[in-house]
Amino acid sequence: MSKGAYARAYETSRQDPEAFWAEAATDIDWITRPTRVLDDSRAPFYTWFPDGRLNVCYNALDRHVVDGRADQAALHYDSPVTGSRATYTYAELLELVSRFAGVLRDLGVTKGDRVVIYMPMVPEAVIAMLACARIGAIHSVVFGGFAPQELAARIDDAAPKVIVSASCGVEPKRVVAYKPYLDEAIRRAEHKPDRCVILQREQQPAELGERDLDWAEVMRPGVVQPAECVPVEASHPLYILYTSGTTGKPKGIVRDSGGYAVALRWSMPNVYGIEPGDTMFTASDVGWVVGHSYIVYAPLLAGATTVVYEGKPIGTPDAGAFWRVVQDYGVSSLFTAPTAFRAIKKEDPEARLLADYDISSLRTIYLAGERLDPDTYHWATERTGRPVVDNWWQTETGWPIASNPRGIEELPIKPGSPSTAVCGYDVRVLDDQGTEVPAGTEGAIVIKLPMPPGTLPTLWQDDDRYVSSYLSAYDGYYLTGDGGYIDEDGYIYVMGRTDDVLNVAGHRLSTGSIEAALAGHPAVAECAVIGVADSFKGQVPRALVMLKSGVDASTPEAQDRLRKELVQRVREEVGAVAALHQVDIVDGLPKTRSGKILRKTMRQIADGQEAQVPSTIEDRSVLDSLTSVLRPQG
Ligand code: COA
Ligand code: AMP
Repeated sequence: MSKGAYARAYETSRQDPEAFWAEAATDIDWITRPTRVLDDSRAPFYTWFPDGRLNVCYNALDRHVVDGRADQAALHYDSPVTGSRATYTYAELLELVSRFAGVLRDLGVTKGDRVVIYMPMVPEAVIAMLACARIGAIHSVVFGGFAPQELAARIDDAAPKVIVSASCGVEPKRVVAYKPYLDEAIRRAEHKPDRCVILQREQQPAELGERDLDWAEVMRPGVVQPAECVPVEASHPLYILYTSGTTGKPKGIVRDSGGYAVALRWSMPNVYGIEPGDTMFTASDVGWVVGHSYIVYAPLLAGATTVVYEGKPIGTPDAGAFWRVVQDYGVSSLFTAPTAFRAIKKEDPEARLLADYDISSLRTIYLAGERLDPDTYHWATERTGRPVVDNWWQTETGWPIASNPRGIEELPIKPGSPSTAVCGYDVRVLDDQGTEVPAGTEGAIVIKLPMPPGTLPTLWQDDDRYVSSYLSAYDGYYLTGDGGYIDEDGYIYVMGRTDDVLNVAGHRLSTGSIEAALAGHPAVAECAVIGVADSFKGQVPRALVMLKSGVDASTPEAQDRLRKELVQRVREEVGAVAALHQVDIVDGLPKTRSGKILRKTMRQIADGQEAQVPSTIEDRSVLDSLTSVLRPQG
């Protein structure tokens, strides 16, 4: 690690990306080694390693068994909410994955078919994902905290042949029955899967119907022949992961196989400081991109050990939970969202519980998923005595865009910034006209095309939406949807979304879905949802609702009843993670003359910032009368 190593590596990745990624690709075991690195003949659609063929599951499991890691732990399952733990070696995980791949194959799932996985944080979720990869099926994991309507939208878009789910999830204070949600989602969806495989959990078994199979039954040894790896093209989709945009229709981010494997494998030593045999603990959920990349694929591609943790940072049982996991499994890198640290800080401000555990194995803490505020950064650094590395990325990119490149060179950390661009990403800040702004000036953060391997090649069966959502704002650039600036040293500062996407406790949610749920209530004429700053969850949604004429909301009791119904409706339609608690009943919503609701202006007022009011506002008095409702108290 020498001074200037990052600058040199970064420049190579920019000047000669093909040489850079060809070198990185040698860490992957290819069935057909690619002779070409980047196909740009269909720009702005790019294909990495166009003539390469591989199997990602082979690289995550079989390869390590062949290389002598058969008895090394591949996955520790640690579930304080159910009081269970289990460790799977690489050989054991390979056996289970091959068997479940055989189950899927026998259900008629073949290369290119989709499989939706709707599961809590159990090892079977990882087994199902890898089993899909093994036979070239495309998985689409839906976060367990989403309610039937969100699941139904994803089922309709992905059109899965099979759905893999569980009878229930276990949250600290309640058991969440998944199976009724799944049944309701299938009832609402136009597309119907052939079969559902259900993991029965003792906390709340489910009644199985004609379409359903019991995971334990189909996985009994000897019932199916294990499946071998199916070779796929590097461009073959490994998965679709739906993420929230501004509208209610989620975007199906496509992830390729070859580029993703190369990028993740490269990121392990270079970004996350993980070598084969190390243990990584990513406290997220397999339903999010952080879970896909750094609970499942990257640690296994690297021959490391991953931890699947079914619990929370606090309350399961206390704010020492993460330190215990670090101690019990010898974790060297801990990766979570800033909210988790804010939760720990709130519960245990002096971090007294740290003294109960030996965390000497822990080298570095990584935080991503939302802005890392300097207070939380300082607290985490001072209390743990470990470097705290902020890294910025999105579902679309699949791995970090910006991070301190500690594996290459330990650059100084500047609180409030995820440091510099990661190799392969050419990050710029543009103004409204598409001109690059000087250092320190805020604008839209964009990435010059082509983006590095692992990033989205398109949206599932929707090239047009891919272009209109991400590529049409500035020619030749990918629009991240984040605003911010770059300082003189090349450090990127990500200040927040420039669109109406919400980020609640590191969970990305769409204003459109929440609005659709509210609008479905018979009393609602019109509504708007904005994300307002929250010192714990980063952001929380806030709803402004106009009622239909004739709806009785004249008394505080009637209003209160209505608010409760609306909150409940959002829980049932979007999911409890939406965490909508504040609903204001208002007389009007500020709009432009063309009818666009001024969400950004309202958000600025609610956050106590200077509000930018567009000159095209239809009726200024509507906004003025809302200001006192929106303005932060105290
Ligand atoms: N299945 C079903 N319900 C779920 C769920 C899941 N997988 N995940 C969350 N929920 C529910 C919770 O039970 C809670 O319900 P409640 O309102 O009835 O209590 C609601 O959704 C909100 O959950 P959550 O966002 O977890 O808030 P919380 O207040 O329970 O916990 C934290 C706060 C900080 C502990 C929690 O948000 C956390 O661990 N965040 C880390 C961030 C993270 O992992 N981000 C992922 C991207 S990196
Ligand atoms: P998701 O696609 O769910 O990973 O959410 C991506 C969005 O989360 C980004 O567009 C950012 O708005 C936000 N985000 C993620 N990581 C960071 C970070 N380190 N700093 C600031 N914002 C972040």
